[in-house]
Amino acid sequence: MASHFRSTERQGSEDAERQLDVIVSEAAPQEGAPSPDDTGAFLAAATVGSEDAPEPESPEAVHVVTASESEGAPEQPERSSVYAALSGDDAPAVSRTGTPTVSFKNVTLIYPAQPNKPALDDVSLDIYPGEFVFVVGHSGSGKSSLLRLITRELRASSGQVIVAGQDLTKMRNKKVPYLRRQIGTVYQDFKLLPDKTVYENVAFALECIGKPRSVIKAQVPEVLRLVGLAERMQHFPDQLSGGEQQRVSVARAMVNRPPLLVCDEPTGNLDPAISLGIMKLLDLINRAGTTVVMATHDREMVDSMRKRVIALEAGHVVRDQERGGYGYYGAL
Ligand SMILES: Nc1ncnc2c1ncn2[C@@H]1O[C@H](COP(=O)(O)OP(=O)(O)OP(=O)(O)O)[C@@H](O)[C@H]1O
Ligand SMILES: [Mg+2]
Repeated sequence: MASHFRSTERQGSEDAERQLDVIVSEAAPQEGAPSPDDTGAFLAAATVGSEDAPEPESPEAVHVVTASESEGAPEQPERSSVYAALSGDDAPAVSRTGTPTVSFKNVTLIYPAQPNKPALDDVSLDIYPGEFVFVVGHSGSGKSSLLRLITRELRASSGQVIVAGQDLTKMRNKKVPYLRRQIGTVYQDFKLLPDKTVYENVAFALECIGKPRSVIKAQVPEVLRLVGLAERMQHFPDQLSGGEQQRVSVARAMVNRPPLLVCDEPTGNLDPAISLGIMKLLDLINRAGTTVVMATHDREMVDSMRKRVIALEAGHVVRDQERGGYGYYGAL
């Protein structure tokens, strides 16, 4: 199954390298800051896009990168200028050949509580390996519903949802956990376990899929260091800022190196400067080959990033635009 997720090209890795350099050099020197070796590990992992690239065996080869800019730093760069630098015309173009990572074919979703008002109505779309897709639209337009169909939290009422070559509308429940191992999820409310430390929250994701202790002990500190939280490993979620909590949830989503990342308003609870750090992290993860599908209300971010934009209105796709903008809606 996993091979269907993989990009057939090493897309954007040079971009990722350049951006990573910028971010690493922007970061104030601190203990636990990424070393050049981290960059190497990140870029080595970026080759997961290649069919013939061997899966890294080494537990050191975790591919999440640092969100190095320190939160609350006094001099935050202006958001729009940073986003402009991240996007630009040289953004990786994704080949639209081969098997899509996500394919919706005439999908309708009706919640039993609203039988006459489909949450999604005859939606068809394809998302290919390595794409970064924003899903935008009014509150209630169906964004979360669309994402929850991808993770099989919901099953379509009609049509087909195909993820990694598997028809989720037919998938047996007992197979769903195997699907979820391939999909990292990040939510607006972080969904961290309050009684577990930062370390334990990330470790838990690996324990659930039966990873040996030796792998957990190696990978968890590594991924936390790469998201800039090496020194907070023994803290509990309520001892962290919102941005730090969200970085933990990104680390948890990525520690198993899933090829698909589904994010539902990951910056919705964060102030603009902190959102920028999370967005940079997601952008770099994408440039290393991970497909990202992200619902958001953040107009400025969407306009600046110039990624593919799918706009929903009352359960219909009303726009699907390459390097699009947020568009003009009333109050959202
Ligand atoms: N569990 C549910 N039962 C019944 N209706 C639901 C349920 N969840 C969502 N809906 C309805 O489905 C439609 C789409 O909801 P969805 O949560 O997908 O919207 P959204 O675009 O994510 O909105 P928001 O931007 O507010 O998060 C809405 O009309 C909503 O009321
Ligand atoms: Mg929603």
